[in-house]
Amino acid sequence: KKVVLAYSGGLDTSIILKWLQTEYGCEVVTFTADLGQGEELEPARAKAEMMGAKSIYIEDLREEFVRDFVFPMFRANALYEGLYLLGTSIARPLISKRLVEIAAIEGADAVAHGATGKGNDQVRFELAAYALNPDIKVIAPWREWDLTSRTKLLEFAEANQIPVAKDKRGDAPFSVDANLLHTSSEGKVLENPGEEAPDYVYQRTVAPEDAPNTPEMVEITFERGDAVAINGEAMSPATILTKLNELGGKHGVGRLDLVENRFVGMKSRGIYETPGGTILLEAHRGIEQITLDSGAGHLKDSIMPRYAELIYNGFWFSPEREMLQALIDKSQEHVTGTVRVKLYKGSASTVARWSDRSLYSEAHVTFEDDAGAYDQKDAQGFIQLNALRLKLLASRARRLK
Ligand code: ARG
Ligand code: SIN
Repeated sequence: KKVVLAYSGGLDTSIILKWLQTEYGCEVVTFTADLGQGEELEPARAKAEMMGAKSIYIEDLREEFVRDFVFPMFRANALYEGLYLLGTSIARPLISKRLVEIAAIEGADAVAHGATGKGNDQVRFELAAYALNPDIKVIAPWREWDLTSRTKLLEFAEANQIPVAKDKRGDAPFSVDANLLHTSSEGKVLENPGEEAPDYVYQRTVAPEDAPNTPEMVEITFERGDAVAINGEAMSPATILTKLNELGGKHGVGRLDLVENRFVGMKSRGIYETPGGTILLEAHRGIEQITLDSGAGHLKDSIMPRYAELIYNGFWFSPEREMLQALIDKSQEHVTGTVRVKLYKGSASTVARWSDRSLYSEAHVTFEDDAGAYDQKDAQGFIQLNALRLKLLASRARRLK
């Protein structure tokens, strides 16, 4: 028996590595992805080797992550429950895709992950895996083992010579998931939503009140809805997001304290930092303002919550997500141009935008003499016919009084 484990190199997935070998009698292949979490991955290799992994895969997936997952999602301006930019949700399908591909290469019949039985991530990993290989088996140790407390986990680690970081006693004050799009923190000191999050929770943004006193401008160029350049310089998708993260982090942009509804039914409180993504969303909305037709824009806005919920709930690889994606991608045909965003003490605001695809017509909208571009008398009939049913309703209401 052989299983491919999504391995971070941290304590929990190291315990899982060992547990799969000793309790399941499996050969374990580890897969560690660089999604821009900002951690050295070589220690994960050394650790996996030391614990007897059969083979070790370490891959830089940053470009694929941003190009094929983050950017398509940003074309939709996706937000879950109005606020969450889906930084963890959008990374899971890519990890599962590689797990399943590696399982095929290695002749493994199962994949394993370190998500708990209480969360969204188990659902996302597994729905994606089954969508890509209906025969794959999934092992989710958190749902099976009897290591139900931190103490038991640490005892297991000790008994199996699994190194536990001494300073933290392997016991981080909260649970963190990070990648190029965001850092999310949940649990422990954050579990009471009535208590403000302590400042040390924030890892990649300064507090807005400590951000520079002078604003900074950044210009983002879009082609068909995707960012392609910053300040006139063309860059790869992952480089763009990296650069925007630096700028956003420095100006305290993209912090969020949220209580959200998990797919499994419970509410959970999380702290999110999405510095680059917050700038990107603002800029994308900025370029859509002048390049998108109102009918197209309102239609895509109306399906956005549904699209965001599909990603949150783990249905990235589903026909309905792909159908909505086709609609969204079609809307982006002319979403090309440049936006200037002002960064200042936690805010990212569009201050200028221009495009040779613009639908904005100063000739029509001007408060000055429009030289016959628009006949104001046309508006009278427009209003009268739109008012007709409202007048009939008002007459009835008067009759019934
Ligand atoms: N609640 C977020 C989501 O469902 C993040 C979950 C993972 N984060 C974590 N700190 N373990 O997408
Ligand atoms: C977990 O339970 O593994 C993290 C939180 C989540 O998946 O929602």
